[in-house]
Amino acid sequence: MQPHDHEAVTDTRRHLFYETSHSPALADLVGYERAAEIIDFCFIANPYYPTPEMLADLQRNLPNLIKSYPSSSPALAQKHLAAVLHVNPDNLVIGNGATEIIALINQTLIDRIAVPIPTFGEYIEKMKDRRDAELYPLDPERRYELRLDEYLRWARENNLTSLLLINPGNPTGQLLPLDEMVAFLKETKDLELVIVDESFIDFAGDPVPSLLTLADQFSHLLIVRSMSKHCGVPGLRLGYCYSPNRYILNRLRRFLPTWNLNTLAQYFLSQLPPTDAQYHEARKRLIADVRLLYDALRALPALEVYPTGANFVLFKVTNGMTATELQHRLLEEHRMYVRDCSNKVGMDRFHVRVASQGREKDARLVEALRVLTR
Ligand SMILES: Cc1ncc(COP(=O)(O)O)c(C=O)c1O
Repeated sequence: MQPHDHEAVTDTRRHLFYETSHSPALADLVGYERAAEIIDFCFIANPYYPTPEMLADLQRNLPNLIKSYPSSSPALAQKHLAAVLHVNPDNLVIGNGATEIIALINQTLIDRIAVPIPTFGEYIEKMKDRRDAELYPLDPERRYELRLDEYLRWARENNLTSLLLINPGNPTGQLLPLDEMVAFLKETKDLELVIVDESFIDFAGDPVPSLLTLADQFSHLLIVRSMSKHCGVPGLRLGYCYSPNRYILNRLRRFLPTWNLNTLAQYFLSQLPPTDAQYHEARKRLIADVRLLYDALRALPALEVYPTGANFVLFKVTNGMTATELQHRLLEEHRMYVRDCSNKVGMDRFHVRVASQGREKDARLVEALRVLTR
């Protein structure tokens, strides 16, 4: 499939209208009781943070937090978050998960946007009209790799002035180096908006190769980040965006519901500065685990493993077994749940994504895969 293949785009659009691109939560699939017995490799969140002490502290505070109204001003939450990100707090907008921010961006800032696929589905599904997402299919023959120069050329040929990039990519894990990203932003200063979703960037290395500290140079840049993954709190619903552009920030703030952050989420934000050292320890520990997982998967002959800058690894099954069959057998025979990527728009039927759950569980996954694919 070539990036310009119109039939492929039509096909993927059709697919979009009939299916959701999210995988079911494990509890939805097998019930809460059975879910506890299954290792969930679909779940892409840091297993080492919040620390057990932080969770115990949250638990102690729970009755009071539940009985209180959250603050109606975002100022304090922004201050706590900015302290660990080392950025200007006034340029942050915090949402009920990055998903809330993505929906707002799509509804209030964008008419048409370029979206490389496969991708995280919300960027397409939450458009006012799904036809407003101009899909840029990445080539499976080139491991779905995004090449910035080709992407920009295609966007300009199609008169698109808003572009999305996810770095590292989901589901591919592809990491675009910081210098390439900066060069891209310099080259696109004439465009209206470049959204860079950095939800997985904290797992990409040390120091973190994020655009955050350089963002104030680029008024067309909007960085989006989920906290579910790197802070390990998908249930709290926390995500944010950062831009130096006041017009963008004001527009988003105008439509953000008051009290969009709950008291637990606000309390958690207040705990970020005093636990920042533990956070970075947890982050680096997980990066090391992902390296081990990646190397172990690469040793399995029936898998083609994609390089990753995230806390998950994407692989292609090359022995003819489909991703759906592999997912099913892992669940039934080994009590492990992985992400079958077949329902991702623009992806074929042979890709599976696994997120590291710590080295002991990861080793069990690799062993199960060895048995099932030999
Ligand atoms: C690239 C990307 N951005 C944003 C999100 C949304 O995360 P949340 O709404 O949990 O913050 C996800 C979730 O998987 C994602 O993969």
